[in-house]
Amino acid sequence: MPEQTTFRVGIIGLGVRGLYSLARLMADTYPETGLEITALCDRNPRRMREARDVIQSRYAQRGVEIQPRLYQEGRDLIQDPAVDLVAVTSMTDTHRAFAVPALRAGKKVYCDKPLAQNAEDAIAIVEAEVESENPLIMGFTRRYEDAWLKVYGLLQAGAIGDLVMLQIRDIIPYHRYLTAWWRRRAWSGGALNDKGSHLFDVFNWFTGERALKVHGFGGRSVVEPDPDAPRRCSECARDCPYRRRSYETKLPEAMDLVPHIGASWLEEDEEKFMDDVCVYAPGSDLYHNGSIHFQYPNEVIASYFYSIFGPEAEDQETLELVGKEGRIRLTRQTGQVDLVTAHGKRHEVFDCRGEHFQDSHFGADRALIYELRRFCEGTPPPVSAAAGLEATRMVMAALRSMDAGGKTVAMSEVPDAQL
Ligand SMILES: NC(=O)c1ccc[n+]([C@@H]2O[C@H](COP(=O)([O-])OP(=O)(O)OC[C@H]3O[C@@H](n4cnc5c(N)ncnc54)[C@H](O)[C@@H]3O)[C@@H](O)[C@H]2O)c1
Repeated sequence: MPEQTTFRVGIIGLGVRGLYSLARLMADTYPETGLEITALCDRNPRRMREARDVIQSRYAQRGVEIQPRLYQEGRDLIQDPAVDLVAVTSMTDTHRAFAVPALRAGKKVYCDKPLAQNAEDAIAIVEAEVESENPLIMGFTRRYEDAWLKVYGLLQAGAIGDLVMLQIRDIIPYHRYLTAWWRRRAWSGGALNDKGSHLFDVFNWFTGERALKVHGFGGRSVVEPDPDAPRRCSECARDCPYRRRSYETKLPEAMDLVPHIGASWLEEDEEKFMDDVCVYAPGSDLYHNGSIHFQYPNEVIASYFYSIFGPEAEDQETLELVGKEGRIRLTRQTGQVDLVTAHGKRHEVFDCRGEHFQDSHFGADRALIYELRRFCEGTPPPVSAAAGLEATRMVMAALRSMDAGGKTVAMSEVPDAQL
């Protein structure tokens, strides 16, 4: 059999993730990956058409002409025989509606994290994956990021002995969760699901275990709801630290994509689909910050310390691992991994900045695109739906604890797949 040189991709959801992270990088890596976008879907027709133009021109810069078909319904894209890989990058509460039929149709499926906005939808995806014997690949980006892979390798090699504690500090330097569909848990599972699921997956990946129980505290004191708040930033002239900002300051490479994203968002009129809702508008049920602690078997403890309201600054995520013989500290922004081992006798610092460190997610998104190529060729995915379900179950358990003022919640209290 001749080796297949190209794989045909359909993307459902052409917001920041679908357009900027996936489509952009598929175009840029096309000469090596052969991932050709043949179909696009978004519920916003203008965004879809504009995304098509941007993507076509990006491929054209590499001398490749593409003619993606446009679908307003995801189920029609899934049925398109000219699509090998379905990439689900739509809002989280739609993942089930697209991932399940795509798995059943025998397509290769990429589903972004979090797997779903609640445990029930995540279970349905896992069950479809098992029934169809068709594992999907997930977008937990730490799994593709050089520094985290380095730490995992050190841990596996026994550099710090048995793991005793893990901690992730995550002072998120933007406030997008407060101005768009993440505002409500029913749509997103909350900011904790969107961001924390990445990091809870890291806890499971590094411990190789499932958490037993959790307790957490959450705060909502940063932006108080105001019934007189304006509806959205575009209708408000106040000088406000939470004014919706465009993405360009963060993502310089996205400059040619930004105007397209911006205009189609402004014409949306329903809260769920606007991206500049006033942060003071009543109705949001997010925690603005929290501190959450999981207990794993063998008394291993994992904790997550986070906030979602800015201030805008550099990425401030750090990971610390304490083992019986040493410790590791990862600083995401610098790509540096600091290792103390042999009870303190040795100290090494690793610079894990790869060639594409400046690109989105510190190069992880580009690595993911290469992984998608291998996945299309039949390589098993490094992270699949079961890991996504477990991370979302942990989020749901943590929210239950936070809602109950810090009560300890056993993981067995949250629904799980019955396989
Ligand atoms: N892996 C990562 O690090 C990462 C980073 C960012 C976002 N994400 C995930 O990607 C997904 C999208 O996030 P985003 O930041 O691009 O959000 P976004 O709001 O920018 O874009 C979502 C898009 O989905 C479209 N959409 C919604 N419902 C739809 C439907 N029924 N059919 C077709 N299109 C529909 C919207 O119109 C919008 O264009 C989310 O699940 C998010 O958690 C993952």
